[in-house]
Amino acid sequence: MTADNRTDKDRQLDEARVGFQDTALTTDQGIRVDDTDNSLKVGERGPTLMEDFHFREKITHFDHERIPERVVHARGAGAHGYFEVHDDSLAAFTAARFLTTPGLRTPVFTRFSTVAGSRGSADTVRDVRGFAVKFYTPEGNFDLVGNNMPVFFIQDGIKFPDFVHAVKPEPHNEIPQASSAHDTLWDFVQLQPETTHMMMWLMSDRALPRSYRMMQGFGVHTFRLVNAEGRGTFVKFHWRPKLGIHSLVWDETQKIAGKDPDFNRRDLWEAIESGDFPEWELGVQLVPEEDEHAFDFDLLDATKIIPEEQVPVRPVGRLVLDRNPDNFFAETEQIAFHLGNVVPGIDFTNDPLLQARLFSYLDTQLIRLGGPNFPQIPINRPVAEVRNHHRDGYHQMTIPQGQASYHPNSLGGGCPAVGGEGAYTHYQERVDGNKIRKRSESFGDHYSQATLFWNSMAGWEKEHIVAAFRFELGKVVHLHIREGVVRNLNQVDHDLAVMVAEGVGVEPPAGAAVPNHGHGSPALSQDHDPVQTV
Ligand code: HEM
Repeated sequence: MTADNRTDKDRQLDEARVGFQDTALTTDQGIRVDDTDNSLKVGERGPTLMEDFHFREKITHFDHERIPERVVHARGAGAHGYFEVHDDSLAAFTAARFLTTPGLRTPVFTRFSTVAGSRGSADTVRDVRGFAVKFYTPEGNFDLVGNNMPVFFIQDGIKFPDFVHAVKPEPHNEIPQASSAHDTLWDFVQLQPETTHMMMWLMSDRALPRSYRMMQGFGVHTFRLVNAEGRGTFVKFHWRPKLGIHSLVWDETQKIAGKDPDFNRRDLWEAIESGDFPEWELGVQLVPEEDEHAFDFDLLDATKIIPEEQVPVRPVGRLVLDRNPDNFFAETEQIAFHLGNVVPGIDFTNDPLLQARLFSYLDTQLIRLGGPNFPQIPINRPVAEVRNHHRDGYHQMTIPQGQASYHPNSLGGGCPAVGGEGAYTHYQERVDGNKIRKRSESFGDHYSQATLFWNSMAGWEKEHIVAAFRFELGKVVHLHIREGVVRNLNQVDHDLAVMVAEGVGVEPPAGAAVPNHGHGSPALSQDHDPVQTV
């Protein structure tokens, strides 16, 4: 940061900015254009000539304007801003400088999104919202790629293509565009009880945020912080909006989707334009490694929260969004978030959903953004220096110097140092086991936390949830799917199952299900404030 409040990222982006004021129109080759309204023809009414290079270039570029939209989270809106840590109290847990250096303002770009709809779909649909933050730290880019709900639909990423195929418009008729009211989604849900907890969130008002500025965010997975001595601590990341958490009601969302499909996008844009900068508090839940097995669920299971009564959320710093993008495509569309972008002090866990994501994001971006040089696109470039021996590929934007592009070398290509102070070292977790395709039994309880969620709702919230189940499930054509969902809900709460059954025309379950809630709940080794363990 400098006195003019501009970040290193702002200055780096300056190099890429182009304006049009007081300049002459040119071709891509810099040749000034004499007329851009009439093509070159033989006579006034004759055929257009191939030699009209301006015409050809203009049309060709237009023909190639579209890139693939994101396979999920295609619809989104983003903004620039900064992150500022409150103090150095996390230094005992992480070596990450942006989380431990008071006064350091880390530039960020944040993108909010819906999941299922295409780029042009409406904002106010019932859906999960993405909450992705790219921190341009002095040690490289860190991406926190989260959602506005703290859990996920599935436990193992190998199910992600199945899940997304079920959520997206059906393959034979491409209906519905962006809605959970269709057979394939609910068929997947009834056959995969691990979706139950997340479906409770999805049927709640959390799926209808009034504004991105009034939405929580969650990293969802358990990650790992690693301190300077190499000691690990499990961590869950939380974003809490300064404006509080507010939702629309279903009837409003329906009307707004018709009147202003850009409702959430416009709200974010206008707030920032008017200087009303949205703000979130970053918080962490910390769990010492010795307490990995102290819960009645598995920390590696992304369908579970760590209840805040058990592990309170510690405030860490604030995120402020204070500048709209200059260009939607160049910035919001071309930004590439990736869970695998971590900096020293932050590492992964063996959550099988997290592990799958580590593969998926880079892979999809290679096609979405046209090859391996997309990290050179201005919005994706780190402010940290990039020096390596990657070479060639489509759209190489730098001019590497020297003869050698391998390591080590003794020629003029330079040989950047490897290792040493500031280098990323992976956490040395001891892992031992047979190669096996099997879900851990510790992932077996699909209902307890769904029940916890239901029981934590006020009466009016419960009414909204029941109404949502009735509306969405009531559109399902196949009765056996409705019945299957009601059977699962009976494991959550009998009254809920009866109310939904009555609303969707299937036989209500005769009695409460025998609880199928898995294992016991061993006591925590201590009171769970990891501060006391250092
Ligand atoms: C995109 C969150 C699970 C694959 C996104 C985005 C978010 C997100 C926020 C939008 C990023 C942006 O704004 O550009 C999550 C969360 C998950 C989850 C919180 C679970 C906890 C998964 C899994 C996979 C996956 C399991 C695959 C195995 C993708 C892909 C994209 C995406 C391919 C598009 C990325 C792009 O084209 O840039 N996800 N996701 N996600 N996600 Fe996930």
